[in-house]
Amino acid sequence: MTKILAIDDEKIYLNLIIHALSEQDYQIETASSGSEGIQKARDFTPDLIITDVMMPKMSGYEVTRLLRKEEAFAHTPILMLTAQVDMKAKLEAFESGADDYLTKPFAPEELAARIIALLRRAERTKPIRSESAIEEKSRLIAVHSLRGGTGCSSLAVNLSLGMYSLWQKPTILLDLAMTAGQVALMLNAPLKRTWADLARFGAEDIDLEAINSVINQHESGLSFIPAPTLPSEATPLEKETLNTALKMLRHEFSYIIADLPHDFNPMTLSTLDEADLILLLVAPEMASIRAAAAAVDTYTKLGYPPEKINLVLNAVVPRSGLSKEKIESALALSITVTIPYIADKFVHAINYGQPLVSRYPEDMVTGLLEDFAFHLSQNEHKKSKPSAPSQTWQRVYRRHKARKKRQINHFPSW
Ligand SMILES: Nc1ncnc2c1ncn2[C@@H]1O[C@H](COP(=O)(O)OP(=O)(O)OP(=O)(O)O)[C@@H](O)[C@H]1O
Ligand SMILES: [Mg+2]
Repeated sequence: MTKILAIDDEKIYLNLIIHALSEQDYQIETASSGSEGIQKARDFTPDLIITDVMMPKMSGYEVTRLLRKEEAFAHTPILMLTAQVDMKAKLEAFESGADDYLTKPFAPEELAARIIALLRRAERTKPIRSESAIEEKSRLIAVHSLRGGTGCSSLAVNLSLGMYSLWQKPTILLDLAMTAGQVALMLNAPLKRTWADLARFGAEDIDLEAINSVINQHESGLSFIPAPTLPSEATPLEKETLNTALKMLRHEFSYIIADLPHDFNPMTLSTLDEADLILLLVAPEMASIRAAAAAVDTYTKLGYPPEKINLVLNAVVPRSGLSKEKIESALALSITVTIPYIADKFVHAINYGQPLVSRYPEDMVTGLLEDFAFHLSQNEHKKSKPSAPSQTWQRVYRRHKARKKRQINHFPSW
């Protein structure tokens, strides 16, 4: 029987919850304070938790944050009951790790419907198990730039979704921008557990269970590990721990896409070393070109072969006066793909928490990103038509045929 724990300091609301859920076959436990709630959660191991926000001593945000620190509650759906409806309350609910929130007073039917939806979603997005290990090789793609605001996170998020919808193979997005993680926000996903929850592990004692506890599932089926949004919580992982984690993830995922911070810190270096491909982003402005030149110089010193590096020109400004050719000659590298300036759509996508490729499937830039995802895919996948081609694959193929007819070749490997 499904077990539900309700935490609220007001008895009347606890009764209302019991009443609202009486039609369903749930076993319900109640607690009248945050600390009692946490204790009951440990004893009762509920399938779902409802918590009020405004409680004396310990708020619902605090309860949620503390529960998320425990591996056992990494994925338990949590619904918050809040009196406020403003943006701040909504953000705080998601940042503490709640899956959903409902404003008080609520209709009993509304509560029941939300609970059913949350339980269904939890069932659909169960974390990976070790027996799901993939047999094939995996490909790790790192998205990097030494200058902020060049579109690393936007590219990483859209590429991951594109890759997953193209092949429907296990795909994971890693947000390694530890002090300024944006991925969860871009995916409109609550911040449950993050890389910081793995920081206490050494390379020898990290295991699949620990890694699973920080893997979140987006509704599309894409997996992701978020970075903490508060710099104060951004405890870095030991280089060796991250290395071990990346190797373990390679057994579970066909594609791993890492959104890196704009530096060469030890976590960034580990990921760049381990990556099969690096997408170096450059914007059409002098500071970004200089940063890209410094990155290329460092990659060379690190001994990365030139074919590991893909230069991506992202027009984050409308008219810059710097042509693709000028940038290519300044960096002595050719540009693999140019993403045009499309400010409104990228910003809408962030504000609605629905990335470009999902929000605007027919857009020209979505097409470009899907084609790019294909270009970066493993030869094993690219070489023949999948037995059940996804819609994304069919779109990519149609565009490829049209280009071939007109003898245009965007991506060298086609
Ligand atoms: N092609 C584009 N056209 C217009 N705006 C863009 C484009 N690509 C990205 N942007 C915008 O530029 C801003 C920065 O993008 P994003 O957050 O992806 O970059 P970042 O390199 O990850 O930045 P940060 O330094 O915050 O990590 C966002 O507001 C995004 O919407
Ligand atoms: Mg970013």
